[in-house]
Amino acid sequence: MIETKLTKLLGIKYPIVGGTMMWITTADFVAAISNAGGLGILASAVYPSREEFEVAIDSIQKQTDKPFAVNINLFPAMRAIDNNEYVDVMVDRGVKVVETSGHSAPEELCKRFKDAGMTWIHKCVGVKYALKVQKMGADMVTVVGYENGGATGRLDICTMVLVPTVVDAVDVPVIGGGGISDGRGIAAILALGAEGVIMGTRIMATMECPIHDNLKQALVGASELDTMLIMRSINATHRVWVNDAAKKCHDLEEAKASFEELYEVIKGDNAKKMYDDGDLDVGIVSCGQGVGLTHDVPTVAVLFDRIMKEAEERISALSGQIVR
Ligand SMILES: Cc1cc2nc3c(=O)[nH]c(=O)nc-3n(C[C@H](O)[C@H](O)[C@H](O)COP(=O)(O)O)c2cc1C
Repeated sequence: MIETKLTKLLGIKYPIVGGTMMWITTADFVAAISNAGGLGILASAVYPSREEFEVAIDSIQKQTDKPFAVNINLFPAMRAIDNNEYVDVMVDRGVKVVETSGHSAPEELCKRFKDAGMTWIHKCVGVKYALKVQKMGADMVTVVGYENGGATGRLDICTMVLVPTVVDAVDVPVIGGGGISDGRGIAAILALGAEGVIMGTRIMATMECPIHDNLKQALVGASELDTMLIMRSINATHRVWVNDAAKKCHDLEEAKASFEELYEVIKGDNAKKMYDDGDLDVGIVSCGQGVGLTHDVPTVAVLFDRIMKEAEERISALSGQIVR
């Protein structure tokens, strides 16, 4: 068993956080991740109304008595989002852990997290952002390196350098990730000084993940070369799986197309259609380089048990190699 500040602070079995994924980390999947010993995070932005969000929270609480979190999206969004409404429901339902990602949380939102006694985790991609949110009162920071699936920001710092840099710079516990798919990666992140690991890409290829099987199989068949960066021209760089939609976005950016033209390709509805129907070229799917280490589609519990065992074995093997 590996105990860290993250497992002790949150009361979870494994130091694994299931990364927020738009359209994907919905109630059932979040409950599966938490029941498997990690921290599941509900993507609040999936739910357009207070009522639908309430149903999702109730559903998680029915399916698990384990800790889970809710992500509050601070990225620019096409749909106007009133995050205060989500926080109202979280306070009402007694949600104990909140994750923010995107820009820094507005002061009044942070105050609400604190007043409600929530543990506040902020996810970012650079030391300057980590220091900023620590000052604002974040209880933990998550940092994801350039290898990661999804938003990579503009700093382009790889996980290997980002994690220890942030560990050295902040006083709060750090969760690290970007490219982590197996026990060796977990051992490495802990060796870099983080208290836990965040995984997104790897957990898409699990039985409970609510995406079409065509996409799961495509991810299993992909290599570390099958991702690309897009959307840098609109200041929203994402690492995604190489498919027709991603290549089209890239070409439009090269041709300096308007935002409206780009939007037709990158809009979330296309991704949702792809997740639901399994047409692999319809939308953009965030995907990290760790896809090259993704070889099967187990249940979340089988995956977590296996990779934590691997991590323990790796750490023991390394300590056995020390010659005194
Ligand atoms: C399909 C997909 C969708 C994602 N959507 C979001 C999101 O809506 N909000 C967010 O903060 N991060 C999002 N992420 C990032 C993950 O939460 C996590 O930080 C990242 O996947 C970790 O890197 P890895 O993919 O290399 O494991 C997404 C990642 C993937 C793969």
